[in-house]
Amino acid sequence: MKMGRLENRVAIVTGAGQGIGRAIALGMAREGASIFIADINAANAATVKQEITAQGGRAGALCSDISEEQSVRAMVDVALKEFQRIDILVNNAGMFPTSPVEEMQEEEWDRVIGTNLVGTFLCSKAVVPHLLAQRSGRIISLTSGRAFQGAKNGAHYAASKAGIIGFSKSLALELAPHGITVNVLCPGITDTSQPRGHQTEEQIYSQGQRIPLGRIGQPEDLVGPTIFLASDAARFITGQTILANGGGIMW
Ligand SMILES: NC(=O)c1ccc[n+]([C@@H]2O[C@H](COP(=O)([O-])OP(=O)(O)OC[C@H]3O[C@@H](n4cnc5c(N)ncnc54)[C@H](O)[C@@H]3O)[C@@H](O)[C@H]2O)c1
Repeated sequence: MKMGRLENRVAIVTGAGQGIGRAIALGMAREGASIFIADINAANAATVKQEITAQGGRAGALCSDISEEQSVRAMVDVALKEFQRIDILVNNAGMFPTSPVEEMQEEEWDRVIGTNLVGTFLCSKAVVPHLLAQRSGRIISLTSGRAFQGAKNGAHYAASKAGIIGFSKSLALELAPHGITVNVLCPGITDTSQPRGHQTEEQIYSQGQRIPLGRIGQPEDLVGPTIFLASDAARFITGQTILANGGGIMW
């Protein structure tokens, strides 16, 4: 029987109740990983857990808010209780409200930075002691093309996603001596609810036409790169940002 590429691994995927995180959770489960779904939307987290178990995988789910340290600690405690170990953290949960800077309330700025950037820090911090004890592990965090190109009416989002890259390179340096890799995955515009929060279908479609591979991304397009970064095949890759965006940004 063919072994999955993530057999016997345990992965926490934040924001896995829908969109890209859901696709990553289902895809990693197909490769043999046990998946712990942490999402602020409890009903969606429970549904994805059921989807994974229905396809023969192992999954746990918890209503978690990655911007709250106590909630993050509970997420790690419950995941450990359920699966006894953690090998992979996918920092996927994120939000993208929009306001021009001159109208943006500090509360909105703090909420976006608090979720996207501080949430990535808190989840990583909570998982690191367990990875250090094992002397192995993978942290994969989702950034965005907006980190490089800016986001009109989304300065907080672009800043949070640029911050994730600097944070991840720093953590990669700290954890490299311990056999733990830290990488960043960068989607371009992807067919989920997120772009629909601030763009019309027409705007989304026309962006797809400008992408060299001729379409916007599908959540499934991020699954292969995540599995690769989490697998033994990527053991010598750390501190990198992998762009999976149909060629939308190249360098
Ligand atoms: N869709 C795109 O075009 C696109 C492009 C580039 C990057 N990304 C990034 O990819 C990731 C996934 O995006 P998506 O398109 O699937 O978004 P989405 O809005 O469909 O899903 C985000 C998920 O995160 C969860 N979440 C939000 N705040 C949370 C919190 N505080 N704690 C726990 N869970 C929380 C939501 O409940 C939801 O399930 C995000 O980090 C996003 O910024 C998306």
